[in-house]
Amino acid sequence: MAVPVIDFSNLNGEERAKTMALIANGCEEWGFFQLINHGISEELLERVKKVTSEFYKLEREENFKNSATVKLLHDIAEKKSSEKLENVDWEDVITLLDDNEWPENTQSFRETMSEYRSELKKLAEKLTEVMDENLGLPKGYIKKALNGGEGDNAFFGTKVSHYPPCPYPELVNGLRAHTDAGGVILLFQDDKAGGLQMLKDGEWLDVQPLPNAIVINTGDQIEVLSNGRYKSCWHRVLSATDGNRRSIASFYNPPLKATISPAPQLTEKENQQVDDTYPKFVFGDYMSIYAEQKFLPKEPRFRAVKAI
Ligand SMILES: [Fe+2]
Repeated sequence: MAVPVIDFSNLNGEERAKTMALIANGCEEWGFFQLINHGISEELLERVKKVTSEFYKLEREENFKNSATVKLLHDIAEKKSSEKLENVDWEDVITLLDDNEWPENTQSFRETMSEYRSELKKLAEKLTEVMDENLGLPKGYIKKALNGGEGDNAFFGTKVSHYPPCPYPELVNGLRAHTDAGGVILLFQDDKAGGLQMLKDGEWLDVQPLPNAIVINTGDQIEVLSNGRYKSCWHRVLSATDGNRRSIASFYNPPLKATISPAPQLTEKENQQVDDTYPKFVFGDYMSIYAEQKFLPKEPRFRAVKAI
């Protein structure tokens, strides 16, 4: 079993209906799928690989070697116990937002990553329209929900991560298992260094590296908006002794003030008992809970968030 690979360019041709169905299946049965021919130029993706690798070498690698995580791992390895590090990730990460501080010392980093983010944001918006259509929602419904009602208010972030070689991969995860909190997540992962896995029917499956593909997964808020049709899915990154996995995840999330609830069109079914799995809530309240419970099951988060 492999995570579905979908040719996004086929949405514009004779195979549109089939492609819509493949994406519906990716959302309903997997929560993860890979897009090829997604419209982001290979030339731009090559530049993204170049600047992010240079950035890691120049501005991060030395810090990581001296980080508390490395020290913790060596301490635990010296003890020779089978105890695993459960509270940290073997990951170097920075987050790029429109208005935060960006790396300054890597040539062309800012221009390249700004261009990349604007292209990815457009792709995220296209995907929300595909989801609208597949779910039978009015065009623009999900985008509007993820923008807090009107305008261009979505919270669009890009995590630039590296998972350096780890001398004791059995003692620490690259990134502990979790579901994503937000809306649509678009991941540009390493061409060669694997490690990302998703949980499907109780089994961890590799999200196979596929050069220049964009991996899509849906977060907890898409699960709520779709009234559970599109479930957010557990995933994790394993650490490895070799390779330095690059992973650039962009998330198209609601602003903190947005109100999120299941789309009424998807809750009105005849003879159905009132289902309170997903309350109506303010996204910021959900994020306060997520900050504490990211690596725990999501269902208690839906129960804990203040309903409005
Ligand atoms: Fe994630």
